[in-house]
Amino acid sequence: MKILITGGAGFIGSACAKKLMDRGDKIIIIDNFNDYYDPSLKEARIKKFLKGYKFKLYRGDIRDEKLVEKIFKTEKIDKVIHLAAMAGVRYAIKYPKLYFDVNVMGSINLLESAVKYKVKNFVFASSSSVYGNNKKMPFSESDPVDTPISPYAASKKADELIAHVYAHLYGLKITALRFFTVYGPWGRPDMALFKFTKNILAGKQIEVYNYGKMSRNFTYVDDIVSGVITILDANLNFGIMNIGGDREEQLTRYIEVLENCLGKIAKKKMMPMQPGDVPSTVADIRKLKKLGWKPETRIEKGIANFVEWYKEYYKVK
Ligand SMILES: NC(=O)c1ccc[n+]([C@@H]2O[C@H](COP(=O)([O-])OP(=O)(O)OC[C@H]3O[C@@H](n4cnc5c(N)ncnc54)[C@H](O)[C@@H]3O)[C@@H](O)[C@H]2O)c1
Repeated sequence: MKILITGGAGFIGSACAKKLMDRGDKIIIIDNFNDYYDPSLKEARIKKFLKGYKFKLYRGDIRDEKLVEKIFKTEKIDKVIHLAAMAGVRYAIKYPKLYFDVNVMGSINLLESAVKYKVKNFVFASSSSVYGNNKKMPFSESDPVDTPISPYAASKKADELIAHVYAHLYGLKITALRFFTVYGPWGRPDMALFKFTKNILAGKQIEVYNYGKMSRNFTYVDDIVSGVITILDANLNFGIMNIGGDREEQLTRYIEVLENCLGKIAKKKMMPMQPGDVPSTVADIRKLKKLGWKPETRIEKGIANFVEWYKEYYKVK
């Protein structure tokens, strides 16, 4: 199979690329290496993490309609994993137009070409943030998600709506994957685990939001990748799937595990809730489990793997 991965220099995209190439798929990547976070980490995912692998890389923007169409035309793409997006809730509050431009208009470019060039399956990243402040836990795919609380969440919800349109009008096979807090080696510097690790090692304070009263179904990157591939192979008609860990973990426990891995106690600065953020995200994962997928990695192992990678990458003794 020839698979286009958008955002393939990103955290999840590069991990998907590696796993798919390991099983013999051909990979085409488009990524614009933007500086939302240190682009050298994106370069390193391509040059170090994917070292020795053969794939084609387009350095470009999914908002560039002509480029997107050219890729589909010349590469004869079988399936798409669309992960390129402006991610991150807090930055979205500052730059809402950018988020809608990339996450919505960029996605439409891809959907247009996917239809035109008869792609067999289109799998894309939505987010658990679409559940907003829903009170019913765990969050299930059939719950109403009409009250997002950040521009980021609204852009992902818009993607889901547009995806349904393309499935309905053109019969495109398409699945929206609602990822729940992904973590692991080669992760994102704007996410909690990365920031905590950096600050704890430097002896600096870490900011703990909502005074620590937060919980998440943290999801290890390999479990996300196996979920994405399960859906990629399933070729389903339009649908929405949660992909999350199977345990609700308290943020305080997550920090404790990290402290154990680092052998250092964090200096914690207790902070109020951040605008746009939600106190709890717990996933109902029964739908994806029915397809044979299940999360395998507990936070004790996943955080240890992250710390090992971090120390090696940043040459921490
Ligand atoms: N990591 C998580 O916890 C999480 C949770 C929910 C949803 N998601 C979604 O999963 C997807 C992947 O997330 P990630 O954590 O790997 O983030 P990431 O930022 O590491 O990866 C996204 C990649 O897309 C690229 N990109 C951004 N805008 C682009 C554009 N206009 N044109 C081309 N490339 C562009 C970036 O350079 C980056 O390499 C995103 O859609 C994100 O919203 C992630």
